[in-house]
Amino acid sequence: MTFRVLEPRPTTGADQLAIDVLVGLSERPKRLPSSLFYDDEGSRLFQAITKTPDYYPPRAELEIFESRGPELLASVAGSPVNVVDLGAGDGHKTAVLLDQLLQEGSPVRYVPIDISGGALATVTSSMAERFPGLEIEGLQSEYFNGLRWLGEQSDRRSMVLFLGSNIGNFDKARARGFLRQLWMALNDGDLALIGFDLKKDIEQLLAAYNDSEGLTSAFNLNLLTRMNTELGADFDVSRFRHYGTYNAETGAMESYLVSQEAQTVRIPALQATFTFQPWEPIHTEYSYKYLRSDIRDLARFTGFEIVDEALDENGWFCSSLWRAKKG
Ligand code: AVI
Repeated sequence: MTFRVLEPRPTTGADQLAIDVLVGLSERPKRLPSSLFYDDEGSRLFQAITKTPDYYPPRAELEIFESRGPELLASVAGSPVNVVDLGAGDGHKTAVLLDQLLQEGSPVRYVPIDISGGALATVTSSMAERFPGLEIEGLQSEYFNGLRWLGEQSDRRSMVLFLGSNIGNFDKARARGFLRQLWMALNDGDLALIGFDLKKDIEQLLAAYNDSEGLTSAFNLNLLTRMNTELGADFDVSRFRHYGTYNAETGAMESYLVSQEAQTVRIPALQATFTFQPWEPIHTEYSYKYLRSDIRDLARFTGFEIVDEALDENGWFCSSLWRAKKG
């Protein structure tokens, strides 16, 4: 008799895309995970969205960091700290915080964590160029694995950045799960600075997710192009439309790709064919909006205490600083 323990073999990006698409398009209603948006073109389009006047969250968060950053950083300023970046994007907002910490004379180690080697190379080289001499330790890893490894290696405190209202792309149950996993990966006293987009006038939300330059529409439709390129699918992009709507019951903006007519799509990489009824949607994204009381409940439920909170002048966005409490 033999008994073998095999090391888990990571699924390749191509396999994961194929599995996500097969599962998602087999569900009723059809859905695709929003993580699939971010191929090179999707990431480029998202960066372009962040510069449109309609999509306010990045400006609101930047305003908070510029005006209230030093207060938010007060509890780590002056002492050695790992600034851990989960999903840095173009790193623009993180750079504002790093600059403020360095001006306080804090010994900072910048630790971006990303599963994508390309994204990691981009953010590490742009930070190295911007802050010569800054200690940088990029970790190519899944978030929690990277955090656990860091917690075991390092005897300094970590401050984890989860910016840009990325938490809103999880439904409420998954947000709890994600933050509890974050808590598990942290040591007692480690901090997390989390960006939450707040509930607000519905017209403003609708404008933000249906921007007048059509970039959000292009971002959503790019998912079809990605399946054509990477899975050999024959989606006719002109026969689908972007639809962004607010669900007042759940408090989430929701994005859909809607088939404008009856059609059949072949996806050779899956050896599968999918049919669409006229006006049938594929759900592609949730962007949950929060009340300040929701943020408080979420922190308490997942084992954190709130150290500080800052809002932009309009009261549209909240940067919430949490401390992990253990034992
Ligand atoms: C990345 N994430 C927080 C954005 C959001 O607001 O949900 C993605 C986005 N989708 C449409 N516009 C921006």
